[in-house]
Amino acid sequence: MEYLDACDAGACLRAANLLSWGKNVVVPSETVYGLAGLARSDLGVAGIFKAKKRPSDNPLIVHVLGKNMAQELAHIEGLAERLMDHFWPGPLTILLPKKEGAALSSLVTAGLPQLALRAPSHPIFRELIAMTGPLAAPSANPSGAPSPTRPEHILANPPSGVDALLAAGPCACGLESTVVGIEHGHIIIHRPGMITSEALSAHAPTTILRDKEQSASPGLRHRHYAPKANLILNQPKPVQGQFHIAFGPSAHADFQLSASGDLAEAAQRLFHGLMEADRMGAKMASVAPIPNEGLGIAINERLQRAAAGGIVDVES
Ligand code: TXA
Ligand code: MG
Repeated sequence: MEYLDACDAGACLRAANLLSWGKNVVVPSETVYGLAGLARSDLGVAGIFKAKKRPSDNPLIVHVLGKNMAQELAHIEGLAERLMDHFWPGPLTILLPKKEGAALSSLVTAGLPQLALRAPSHPIFRELIAMTGPLAAPSANPSGAPSPTRPEHILANPPSGVDALLAAGPCACGLESTVVGIEHGHIIIHRPGMITSEALSAHAPTTILRDKEQSASPGLRHRHYAPKANLILNQPKPVQGQFHIAFGPSAHADFQLSASGDLAEAAQRLFHGLMEADRMGAKMASVAPIPNEGLGIAINERLQRAAAGGIVDVES
């Protein structure tokens, strides 16, 4: 895997060239690192599924620069447009009816009628899209693992068959985008994420879909985010033999999500903390309780899925 430092002159152009040839590149975004391929190319999209060993029935988010590029690919009605105007560029993914004849590989939507669109705010990601056109990109983690939020996470566990890593330091948000659908003027949250339901509810009545089986997002039915260590949730204090991930003041934590109890800081550090447990070779890891409000809802959703033992399914 070629290492491209986004600070180097020509790094972005090199990554854009690789993508234009149907190759796959790990790219930075404000949420997590993504594994990108050209959305209009069967070769580029098939390479993503292969590298992640992702089931072909789990569709990919297509990243665009904004509303104009989105309009080429999907039908955008009033509420969707208002959400784009307010939250784009940023960590909101919107499910929309795909346009007939859109320049997209049919593999992207995995046979579903809707297309997931997001306009990222990361300047490097935007520079790439401006050169290549729409890019499909799931989180760049290997099967079932936490999503990478720093270049070293990719280097520690590189996905196979990927041509390059475009490295641009830690991701500012650290958690994936919120995935929403729109039904009869109502916002349905399929995956909680960086944009909270409170922020969305200023625009329309908002419902969080808690039953994963009902969700239109196939990725939510699968186990995900799991570190190698067994994970115990809601443990207020460190216990000997466990790698303890604290939230709020803690004298003996192995990793601190946020000493001041700030949920945005905890979100930014969450996947890094899970990966630190593995890097330290921990067999057991515990996480302090996180308030289940605002961004805490998305953090707890990730933690619950990371801790869910039993049936090991495929990832999203
Ligand atoms: O922040 C993010 O969203 C990151 C960055 C790279 O943009 N991407 C990401 O992609 O998290 P991924 O593939 O790991 O998760 C996307 C979720 C999955 O649960 C997938 O099933 C769902 O969105 N999804 C994608 N396209 C869909 C579609 N057409 N219909 C329904 N669900 C869809
Ligand atoms: Mg993912």
